Amino acid sequence: MDIITTPSYEALSKEAASYVSRKVQENPHIVLGLATGSTPTGMYEQLIKDHITLGTSYRNVTTFNLDEYVGMSKKNPNSYYAFMKKHLFQHIDIQNEFTFIPDGMSGDPQKECGLYEEKLSKHGPIDLQILGLGANGHIGFNEPGTSSSSRTHVVELTDSTRKANSRFFKGIEDVPTHAITMGIDSIMDAKEILLLVAGANKREAFEKLLYGEISDNFPASILKKHPCVKILADQSVLDTSSIIA
Ligand code: GLP
Repeated sequence: MDIITTPSYEALSKEAASYVSRKVQENPHIVLGLATGSTPTGMYEQLIKDHITLGTSYRNVTTFNLDEYVGMSKKNPNSYYAFMKKHLFQHIDIQNEFTFIPDGMSGDPQKECGLYEEKLSKHGPIDLQILGLGANGHIGFNEPGTSSSSRTHVVELTDSTRKANSRFFKGIEDVPTHAITMGIDSIMDAKEILLLVAGANKREAFEKLLYGEISDNFPASILKKHPCVKILADQSVLDTSSIIA
């Protein structure tokens, strides 16, 4: 794993965006794997700026999102569909039909997982997968204990993940209990992975990732087996001086 630290979240976002936009320029037909959450929003902002000022085009780019809440309509602002539209898609020239996100409203979520895998096989492999890191080590919504051989599947979210994500909702009771997520093995199929880690609340997870063993109990640890992983971490993940004893 190639680890790069940046002095701030803004620097991390700029670094990540310039990496992604370079890849898009090099390969206009690139297949990107995209993540939601707070961590990549700065990168998306920079990608929009880059699209407007330098004209990087997404006309021929295909994207696959990692996950979506079960039972969440596209119109709900907390859906990952709405998130992607708001933070990236509506600001760039990407074609709607090339942006794939699991359908949280499918009447048959298990079937939807199979369909998503079919789309991944048809349009993939993913050239560059962007990932965030859950405080409990999850990637996508693959919670601790998920098999490293998992493909796209339905997960029951842990209380800690629902609590962490409740900041976007009125309260924890409004956070869905289930989600559809690409599996660990589906993520590992990507040719290259860019993991973004920012914020003091990720310090423990980051340390476990670097120094812990590879285990299903800490899903991100499996990334150590991937041949091409770049990690961008900001100073707050490393800075121990601000730990309150
Ligand atoms: C969420 C998402 C993940 C994301 C992670 C960290 O629940 N499903 O894809 O990477 O948790 O989120 P954040 O960046 O907001 O800390």
